[in-house]
Amino acid sequence: MAKLIYSAIASLDGFTVDADGNFDWAAPDEEVHAFFNDRERSVGTYLYGRRMWETMLYWETASTGDDVPAVEREYARIWRAADKVVYSSTLDAVSTSRARLERKFDPEAVRQLKEAAEQDITIGGPGLAASALTAGLVDECHLFLNPVVVGGGTHALPAGLHLELELLDERRFGSGVVYLRYRTARST
Ligand SMILES: NC(=O)c1ccc[n+]([C@@H]2O[C@H](COP(=O)([O-])OP(=O)(O)OC[C@H]3O[C@@H](n4cnc5c(N)ncnc54)[C@H](OP(=O)(O)O)[C@@H]3O)[C@@H](O)[C@H]2O)c1
Repeated sequence: MAKLIYSAIASLDGFTVDADGNFDWAAPDEEVHAFFNDRERSVGTYLYGRRMWETMLYWETASTGDDVPAVEREYARIWRAADKVVYSSTLDAVSTSRARLERKFDPEAVRQLKEAAEQDITIGGPGLAASALTAGLVDECHLFLNPVVVGGGTHALPAGLHLELELLDERRFGSGVVYLRYRTARST
């Protein structure tokens, strides 16, 4: 059975996007990007909320040539090789290869996807991830905390959620980013 992983890059105060809609401060440097690539290599399917999808679509056509850093070339290849499920009630279609559209988040369908999948599944952004966290479907949370406080915006984790977590791994980077890998124990 595959794991469902919620992965997010957030500020120290827990926001993925600030109140002005910016997340420039979340852009990984080469060291973090290389680590991120290593983690993503085992992912077979990405579950995306529509907004996160619109951001990540960049990787469908991003250069894989010498004009971009090696970590970006590598990530573009990793991303294109994975399946994507996009959740949206407003998009007409997703025309990208290896992507399909779902109109609503069906916990039972995701449970079955986990059972059938041979490679791990990740979920993002926070709006969609809230549904999976609330349904108790998320097995691990991987957080990249950036050394910045932004004061408001989109919460990485939803209000009202109670989760017990077990720390599985951590890592610090030269930029001051800290990676925290937690297993979810139970939700109430
Ligand atoms: N921190 C970072 O490194 C980083 C990286 C990339 C992007 N971002 C930004 O982070 C933000 C993403 O967070 P978000 O919470 O605003 O967006 P999100 O979860 O990616 O997308 C929200 C949208 O997904 C769809 N959706 C969510 N839950 C659903 C459900 N249960 N059933 C069906 N559809 C569902 C809806 O689309 P419809 O409105 O179409 O129905 C909803 O408006 C974006 O602004 C993105 O640009 C941050």
